[in-house]
Amino acid sequence: MRRLAIYPGSFDPPTLGHLDVIERASKLFDEIIVAVGVNSAKKPLLPDRYRIESLQESTKHLPNVKVEGFTGLLVDFVQSKAALSIVRGLRATADFEYEFQMAMVNRRLASEVDTVFLMTKWEYSYLSSSIVREVATLGGDYSGMVPPAVAKVIHRALRKT
Ligand code: PNS
Repeated sequence: MRRLAIYPGSFDPPTLGHLDVIERASKLFDEIIVAVGVNSAKKPLLPDRYRIESLQESTKHLPNVKVEGFTGLLVDFVQSKAALSIVRGLRATADFEYEFQMAMVNRRLASEVDTVFLMTKWEYSYLSSSIVREVATLGGDYSGMVPPAVAKVIHRALRKT
């Protein structure tokens, strides 16, 4: 049986912490689908296409990783792929409550699906998409916080605003 895991998130923008989690997960599972939440109610910094394409570019060295967009309930997407695992990154205790709640709701909705938490590298434990968004929109240097392909699309998105 192929072990397939779904790594969902908003990825607005994807960070080096996300990439670290993807690389770790790609060693633990046979296949990873990075599932980019496409939510028309939210106004993201990066349009859906930029988030998906920059993640595809940033993970092209990982042959068992695919990137796709998803809408609606995460567990519906997970079940449509016949996956049994959701991967989420965990940084500090501040993440725990939200992650615990989400894992419990997802298990209630789909009891066969488990959430697996992976810790990021020490140097990324402070990093979040919201920090990158703030630094980027205020004109700071975010290049060491995101993969190069992501830095390129942030630059492009900010030029258009
Ligand atoms: O990176 P994020 O913003 O923490 O990712 C959150 C995401 C997209 C994984 C979460 O909002 C989600 O699963 N959205 C889909 C809707 C859903 O299934 N909600 C019920 C579970 S809480």
